[in-house]
Amino acid sequence: MTNKDLVEDIPVKELIRSAAEARKKAYAPYSGYMVGAAVLTNELRIYTGCNIENASYTPSICAERTAISKAVSEGRRGFKAIAIVGSPKGELISQYSFPCGVCRQVMREFADPESFIVIVARGEQDYKLFRLSELLPESFGPDNLR
Ligand code: THU
Repeated sequence: MTNKDLVEDIPVKELIRSAAEARKKAYAPYSGYMVGAAVLTNELRIYTGCNIENASYTPSICAERTAISKAVSEGRRGFKAIAIVGSPKGELISQYSFPCGVCRQVMREFADPESFIVIVARGEQDYKLFRLSELLPESFGPDNLR
């Protein structure tokens, strides 16, 4: 399967643009690492988020979970894709910023790991695509508890 087949109905560039815009709002005074995320719901709505750090460190939240929490709290529970843009403050975006393990598990809660697409991007024309099942193989999810 080609990348094109993977993302047929996903507005990849719009998601990357939205994530890059959200990254500008990152509150990261401790790490200096700024992340933006944009998640696409099954209804084709986009919710964005940034990382929000805290002086007490552990209450910090990642961009991906901010975006997903916003969407879920607005009643959205099914997702098709997420785009992530991250890099240190003040630098050109020179790296692909992958979701941490906790964020992968949160995606797993609300998405089908075989079809949900994770987009890590350095720009609108420069990105990599993964199925969630590649990034979180053999996962534990809601079905285990049914
Ligand atoms: N961060 C994210 O926002 N998403 C990730 O998936 C990895 C890490 C944030 C958390 C923290 O504010 C900063 O990047 C450095 O870890």
